Amino acid sequence: MYKILSKKKLNNDVDLMIIEAPLVAKNTKPGHFIILRVNEEGERIPLTIVDSDKNSVTIIYQKLGYSTNLLGTLSEGDYIFDFVGPLGKAAHIRDVKSVIGIAGGVGAAPLFPQLKEYKRRGVNVDLVLGGRSKDYLLLIDEYKEFCDNIYCCTDDGSFGFKGFVTEFALDLYRTKRYDQAIAIGPLIMMKNVVLLNEKYDLPTDVSLNPIMIDGTGMCGNCRVTIHGKTFFACVDGPDFPGEGVNFDELMTRQKYYEEEEHICNLELMINENS
Ligand code: NAD
Ligand code: FES
Repeated sequence: MYKILSKKKLNNDVDLMIIEAPLVAKNTKPGHFIILRVNEEGERIPLTIVDSDKNSVTIIYQKLGYSTNLLGTLSEGDYIFDFVGPLGKAAHIRDVKSVIGIAGGVGAAPLFPQLKEYKRRGVNVDLVLGGRSKDYLLLIDEYKEFCDNIYCCTDDGSFGFKGFVTEFALDLYRTKRYDQAIAIGPLIMMKNVVLLNEKYDLPTDVSLNPIMIDGTGMCGNCRVTIHGKTFFACVDGPDFPGEGVNFDELMTRQKYYEEEEHICNLELMINENS
C-alpha cells in the first residue's frame, strides 16, 4: 500500500498527488512512468512521473473516466493499493544548446521532468504552455523556477496569446531558433507541432500515451507505428522522435477506446444505481 502524502487540486479536472514510494523514487529518470491501481479490483492507470525526491513521487492526473475519478476521491493520508514503477524508457536527453518545450493542457505534466533535466545540464530552455483557459495552464510557478522564457497561450484568450500553441510557435520561429523541441499534449497537437517543426528543420520528441494494460510489453495494446515499424510505448517509449509517428492511426484507436470507455462508465453508473 502506498500512502498519499499530499493532494492538490490544480483545476476542476486535474489533481496533483505526492505518493510515498521510496523505491520508485530512487530509480526514476525523466520520461519514466508508473502504473497504479486504486484498489484490488482497480483498472491499471499509467501516469508519467512528474517529479521525485528521496522518498516520494509526484503524479498528475486528469479525471476523465471511472478509474481516474475514483483516484480523485482519495485524500491525503489514504493509501493506493498498487504503485509499480519506474516503467518505460527514460527520455532521450539530447546533447543540444537550446530546447523548446511545447505543452498542451495536461501534457505540461510529462514535459516537466524533461525540461528540468535539460536545464540541469545547462541548456537554454523555453516553454510554450497552452490550455483551454487560464485555469488549464498547469505548473506555471514550477516552470518559472528554471525556464528562460515562458509563453502562455489559451484557446479563449483568458491569459496570454489567444490561440493554439502551434499558432504561437509559428510566430516565435520568425525570430528565434532552437536545436530541439519536445511536444506533449493531445495527439492532434503533437501531430501539428511535428508538421510545423519539420518546416523549420527542428527535430521534435513526443510522448505517446496509447491505452496500456500490462505496461511490460506483453499485451501489445500500446503499439504505435513509427516509420512503418511497430513499437510498444510501454517498453520502447513512451518518448519517441515525433517524425514518422503514425498519429492518425493512434487517433483512430484513441477514439474507439473513448467510445468504449463511455459505454463502460454508463454501465457502471447504471449498475451502481440499480
Ligand atoms: P486540450 O484539448 O485542452 O488541448 C490543450 C492545448 O493543446 C490547447 O490549448 C492547444 O494549445 C493545443 N491544441 C489542441 N488542439 C490543437 C490542434 N488541433 N492543433 C494545435 N494545437 C492544439 O488538452 P487536454 O484535454 O488538457 O489534454 C488531454 C490530452 O493530452 C489527452 O488527449 C491525453 O491523451 C494527452 N496527454 C498526453 C500525455 C502524454 O504523455 N503524451 C500525457 C497527458 C495527457
Ligand atoms: Fe501491454 Fe505495452 S501495455 S504491451
